[in-house]
Amino acid sequence: MARVFVTWRLPGSALDRLAATHETAVWAEEAPPSAGELRERAAPAEGLLTMLMDRVDAELIAACPRLRAISNYAVGVDNVDLAAATARGIPVGNTPGVLTDSTADLAVALMLSAARRIVEGDAVVRRGEWLRWEPDFLLGRDLHGATVGIVGYGRIGQAVARRLGGFGCELLHSSRSGGTPLEELLDRSDFVTLHLPLGEDTRGLIGEEALARMKPTAYLVNTARGPIVQTAALGRALRGGEIAGAALDVTDPEPLPADHPLLEAPNLTVLPHLGSATRATRAAMADVAVDNLVAALAGERMPYCANPEVYERAS
Ligand code: GLV
Ligand code: GLV
Repeated sequence: MARVFVTWRLPGSALDRLAATHETAVWAEEAPPSAGELRERAAPAEGLLTMLMDRVDAELIAACPRLRAISNYAVGVDNVDLAAATARGIPVGNTPGVLTDSTADLAVALMLSAARRIVEGDAVVRRGEWLRWEPDFLLGRDLHGATVGIVGYGRIGQAVARRLGGFGCELLHSSRSGGTPLEELLDRSDFVTLHLPLGEDTRGLIGEEALARMKPTAYLVNTARGPIVQTAALGRALRGGEIAGAALDVTDPEPLPADHPLLEAPNLTVLPHLGSATRATRAAMADVAVDNLVAALAGERMPYCANPEVYERAS
C-alpha cells in the first residue's frame, strides 16, 4: 500500500480500484487545490494523480521526497516538468489513445460550427431576430471539398484526417517528420486545425506571421493547447479580417475570463476545453491513469509513459 494523492475526483470506477490497493486521498473541495495546497497534500505521497490544470513543477516535485510516480489525467503533459521528474527517476504517465477519437470528433465539430455559423445561428433564433427564411441569410462556407491543413500529425491529427476523408476534403498535413511545409499549408488551407503538443518548439507557433499567411476566407481551429496560438495576434487577425474565423477549445489564458478582450473579436467560438469530454472517454482516461499509477507503484513499467528515459537509465 502506497500513499497516493489524487487532485480531483474522476468519472467512472477507476478510483475505486486505486483505493482498493492504495491509501488514496482524493481532493474533494469545490475549487482545485492552490499551488500551496497541492504542495501540502502531495508532500507525503508516493504517487500523484494530477489534472492538466495542476502545475507539477520542479518545486513541487522537490517538495515530495517519497514521490515515485506521477500519473497525469491527460494526453498532454505540458503541465508537468518532465526534466525534473526524469532527473529523479520518476515516470510520468499520460492517457494517449483513449481520447483520440473524441478529440478528433470535436475538431470536426468546431470546423463545421465555425463555417456553418451554428453558434451564431442559435443565438439569432434565441434573440428573436430570425424573421423569415431568406436566400442570403447567415451564409457560411462548406467543409466538404475544402482544403484542410492538419498541423501535427500524430494520433489525433490522423484521426481528423480519417474523418475528413468522408467529407471529400483535400488534406494537407505538416509535422516534425515531414509532410507539407507549414508555410505552404497555411497559404493553401481553408481550415487549419492544430494537433500538436505544447512545447518550447510549438509555443506561439501560430502568431502574426502565420495568421497573415492564412487566407482571409480560412478558419483556425485549436483543440490542442492554448499557448500554441498567440492570443493577441489572433484577436487582431479576427478584427482585421485577416482570417474568416476561429474556433477554440483551448485558450491562453485558460480559463478565458468572460471579460477577456479576445471574446470581443468577431467570428470566434470558444469552448471550455471539452476535447475529451464524453462520459465514455473520461472514464477510459481514468482507467489508463490508474493503470499507469498502479503499475509504477508496483515497480512495473507504466503502460503509457511520457518520459520512458527513466526506464533506460534504470536498466
Ligand atoms: C486534454 O487536453 C488532454 O491533454 O488530455
Ligand atoms: C431548404 O430548406 C430547402 O428545402 O432547400
